[in-house]
Amino acid sequence: MSDPVQGRDALVVHGSLRVPGDKSISHRALMFAALAPGRSRVSGLLLSADVRSTARVLSQLGASLPPVDLSMDIAGRGAAVLHSPLEALDCGNSGTTTRLVAGIVAGSAGVRARFEGDESLSARPMRRVAKPLEAMGAHVELSPAGTLPMTVTGSTLHELEWTLEQASAQVKSAVLLASVVAGVPVTVREHHATRDHTERMLEARGVAITRTGDTIRCVPSGPLAPRDVQVPGDPSSAAFFVALAAMASDGELRLVDVLLNPTRTGFLEVVRRMGADVEVIGPHTVDGEPIGTLVVRPSNLRATDIGGAEIPTLIDELPVIAALASVADGETRITGAAELRAKESDRIAVMVENLRAIGVDAEELPDGLIVRGPSARLVGRVSTHGDHRIAMAFGVLAARPDAAISIDVPGCVDVSYPSFWGDLATVTASTRATAVHFATVSGALRSHFVIAIDGPAASGKSSTARWVAERLGLRHVDSGALYRALTALAHREFGAVAEQWNVDAVLALGDRIALRAIDLGFEPLIDGTPADDELRGAAVTREVSRVAQWPMAREWVNARVRLAARASDVVVDGRDIGTVVFPDAALKVFLVADPWERARRRLIQRLGRRPTDVEVAEETERLVARDAKDQTQSVQARDAVLVDTTALTQEEQVERIVALAEVARGRAAGARVSTDTPALGNPAVHRPD
Ligand code: S3P
Repeated sequence: MSDPVQGRDALVVHGSLRVPGDKSISHRALMFAALAPGRSRVSGLLLSADVRSTARVLSQLGASLPPVDLSMDIAGRGAAVLHSPLEALDCGNSGTTTRLVAGIVAGSAGVRARFEGDESLSARPMRRVAKPLEAMGAHVELSPAGTLPMTVTGSTLHELEWTLEQASAQVKSAVLLASVVAGVPVTVREHHATRDHTERMLEARGVAITRTGDTIRCVPSGPLAPRDVQVPGDPSSAAFFVALAAMASDGELRLVDVLLNPTRTGFLEVVRRMGADVEVIGPHTVDGEPIGTLVVRPSNLRATDIGGAEIPTLIDELPVIAALASVADGETRITGAAELRAKESDRIAVMVENLRAIGVDAEELPDGLIVRGPSARLVGRVSTHGDHRIAMAFGVLAARPDAAISIDVPGCVDVSYPSFWGDLATVTASTRATAVHFATVSGALRSHFVIAIDGPAASGKSSTARWVAERLGLRHVDSGALYRALTALAHREFGAVAEQWNVDAVLALGDRIALRAIDLGFEPLIDGTPADDELRGAAVTREVSRVAQWPMAREWVNARVRLAARASDVVVDGRDIGTVVFPDAALKVFLVADPWERARRRLIQRLGRRPTDVEVAEETERLVARDAKDQTQSVQARDAVLVDTTALTQEEQVERIVALAEVARGRAAGARVSTDTPALGNPAVHRPD
């Protein structure tokens, strides 16, 4: 199909999408809930690596937070309970966690904490936050380069008047948080307005905040009041889909409940200047923030100039604006954006390098970039430098049917938008992901009985699930076996070095794998043949976790698991089963066990004998380190039953799940009367219907 707009091949968008919760508000919601004594409910939280970093770090400082989930009831204990953490605070990739929590620690007299981060965060400037906190009386040590590791020692602070040297909401927020925790007034001046969520949320919690011109005055009085927060959709995540729909050739996309705070909507103004057709419907206010639904339709795009005061209002959207500029008519100039060099990567250099790598005419400026469009067919390899927004900006271009773009680390989107690739597949009607998408959607139409079992690595999910299935006469779907089959096939085709495997090429092998229903489960067939030994072999065991981290591989596995569940009543174990794969499962179980016990069980399985305490200690250390790094870690669904197996034998665990399943089955039997799909499970099993 050829495109009536600007002669492009057809990129068709359709449907409606609720992008995940706003990252800035999610971080702050957790921090304010911990700092305000009393109960705060946070709903719609962004479940991403950065937000998990904030939760982890707050817990290390003494806040008592439940496991991170879409909705959390948090019993705030106030700033007074915070204490020095036993270990360094690992902020992962998150600048917001680092800088805002630095403000909290600075205001907590006697608390001392060392902040560390990943390679990208360890290269980002911290002097900007250290300076005002020191000016208030805290003590801050940095590396000689002014970066992490950073050690902050809280103190009794004094009043401050501070003018921000860079437009930075993070630095502004750090100063405001230090003020509130220490109970001293501050005045902050900013040359250009930056996002004001901290001010809005403080005001809602009883702090006197006044904004006069470019100055914000904060006068704290007493503890923060607890407040519930409903986190709206992140406009920085929605921006990728606004760009996608604007550059499409046909269709319409609705982005539901997006945050429309004016300090965050510069992107919408820019794309409208470029000719995009963006309509806001149903604007309203939730928890002091304006939100609305965006309706975006394709249009002819033209270049524009971007700079000055609008930069802070679209700072995170500049990568996708530069990407969009490559398909717009004319020369787009972005200036006054030197701050881009201090983000998760040097986004000026990285955007220009990658735009050129796919054939776009782009040029670096000291404080911005120039992009000349429209480009011909976009072809090449993108090196994300691990930066989530670079991956997504090029992901949008890669969705064009006429493009051939590969992205080196697509999984880095987990920092802010873990379901990005799935959402991209869902709203485009012409990408390679479409087949998976339709399998996913049709899979969701099933109405069989599903028991979802999630839990961390080595929690015993798989053997317990198999046993539960056997007891109930259901089929067991071992999602791990599908990852193993894909890994085994990649190994056969591309050799032992998994770092060199290309995600697209591996996924293209997926059609050679089928799931065959066997007695009480399913077995994967490679080219029509079972490969049991190979799947359990050392080579596959070594590489399978790498494959399981690829979002597209997870989509592929999830789609097949759903298809299996269309044919049978099933017990499914794996990752994200109760949250992503079967959000409507009749019973969701989340298995947990103390790491020592998980390590002990794993060793017994591996060694075939009772391990020594030293062996268990070593394995525990490995397991805990792996949990911390595990990017595919399951989240506990809100309606999952937590089963702590530490003190249970496997038989007791199975009995407990079987009892829960019997109750759920009774409930499902009542509900199923109204569906028209017959149950196709194991015929030997008695079914209530
Ligand atoms: C953020 C502020 C901005 C933004 C970041 C989130 C916040 O950073 O880029 O993604 O939540 O306050 P700076 O303060 O460094 O500009």
